[in-house]
Amino acid sequence: MMYSIVIPAAGQGKRMRAGKNKQFIVLNQIPLIAYTLKVFEEDEWCKQIILVANESEVDAMQAIVDTHQISKVSKITVGGEERQQSVYEGVKQLTGPDEIVLVHDGARPFIRKASIHRLVQAAKDAGSAVVAVPMKDTVKRVVNGTIEETINRSSLWSVQTPQAFWRDALLAGHKKAEEQDFKATDDASIMEWIGAKVVVVEGDYSNLKITTPEDLLMAEAIIRKRSLEHDS
Ligand code: CTP
Ligand code: MG
Repeated sequence: MMYSIVIPAAGQGKRMRAGKNKQFIVLNQIPLIAYTLKVFEEDEWCKQIILVANESEVDAMQAIVDTHQISKVSKITVGGEERQQSVYEGVKQLTGPDEIVLVHDGARPFIRKASIHRLVQAAKDAGSAVVAVPMKDTVKRVVNGTIEETINRSSLWSVQTPQAFWRDALLAGHKKAEEQDFKATDDASIMEWIGAKVVVVEGDYSNLKITTPEDLLMAEAIIRKRSLEHDS
């Protein structure tokens, strides 16, 4: 079941405080974005990758694509101010008949093929789907430092990427969101907003988004663990 994918990597990585876009942080001699690209290069269901980059980083991204022989990158396109605009720019690059499109953060290098395949299947069946995990923490609503409410955790999920959609529907959602200035932190929110049904596929906690410096410790541990798995 083939799909195309848009990978937004045009952020600044401010919370990482690395002095550069976190996509270029090197872990065990490989830049973060290369780990993410490799997952999809090696997934036989993935037919093409649209990589979204900062204007000043297109050449650096192209160099990584070349070095790591990521043959499925059909285009490196320039992103926007916010993630939402970067994704929209990426989706616009896809033409041809309607198809399943995945959107996946460049900063989530540890997504597993099994989750991707379950997601694609779910999107085919339901229209839109996201990878998510049940929340581990108890969540409370706090106003001015005082707890107002404890939210029943049993219905709470932490939503990750990839997220999968039919391209024409996703494109229509983004177009409407831009026109009506609807701001969303993920693509599913846009589809929910236009009234689409979005289903959840359970993924795993190792699919973390590399966001703050302590995430790098976890990333190194996951890389070490997986390299042992591959060796055995
Ligand atoms: N992203 C993007 N374009 C933007 C902002 C974010 O393509 N204008 C991408 C990031 O590169 C990342 C993904 O969206 O792969 C998720 O965003 P986030 O984790 O917030 O990354 P940054 O925005 O780079 O980090 P920060 O918010 O800490 O600055
Ligand atoms: Mg951000």
